[in-house]
Amino acid sequence: MNVLIFESPEEATQAAFEIVMKRLESGLRTIGLATGSTPLKLYEKLRNTNTDVSHVTTVNLDEYVGLEPTDPQSYNYYMNEELFKYMNFAATYVPNGVAEDPEQECERYEGILKKHPVDLQILGMGPNGHIGFNEPGTSFDSVTHIAELTPSTREANKRFFEKEEDVPTKAITMGISSIMSAKEVLMLAFGEGKAEAVRSMIEGAVTVDCPASVLQKHSNAIIILDTEAASKLK
Ligand code: F6R
Repeated sequence: MNVLIFESPEEATQAAFEIVMKRLESGLRTIGLATGSTPLKLYEKLRNTNTDVSHVTTVNLDEYVGLEPTDPQSYNYYMNEELFKYMNFAATYVPNGVAEDPEQECERYEGILKKHPVDLQILGMGPNGHIGFNEPGTSFDSVTHIAELTPSTREANKRFFEKEEDVPTKAITMGISSIMSAKEVLMLAFGEGKAEAVRSMIEGAVTVDCPASVLQKHSNAIIILDTEAASKLK
């Protein structure tokens, strides 16, 4: 793991942006994307570049089950608003949270990942160490599947919804093995609320109790932190 620590989320985001731009310039074909608050400024920087991405395919980590792509809380909507509508990607894939048969949707999505091997996967992490919606306890062998959201993740994500009851209980998520297939991983974590999970990810045992700890086994993982997220590291 290559761990880079910056004074502020702004400086950390700038570093992540420069890495993404370098990879785009050197012929990246498929980029894996995350949602949430962490990559928002990265997407803002990217959409302001006018970079030609007509040869680049995107695949997103996850989507809530039950939310239409037009629902402002859906990850389809987020990606359209934050990035896709500004850039000329060859194709953009986000799981369909309202597929008639969610299991079949997982299989279809895993097929998309096989067809478009990810060159660079952007990741954020939950305060409980989740990546995508792979909550603690998820097998490292998992592929795209339907995940039950833990109460702590629903609590962490309720800020995006009007009422806590509105937070979906399930999501379609790339599995840990799907994520680990990426040639390179770029994990971003900012703020004190992530500090304990960051410590477990980097200095703890590799264990399903902290899904992000699996990145210790990735041969090409860059971890970008601000000083708060890094505050519990030795
Ligand atoms: C989002 C995703 C999640 C988030 C994580 C952190 O697509 O897969 O794992 O990256 O929950 O969310 P934020 O950035 O909002 O703290």
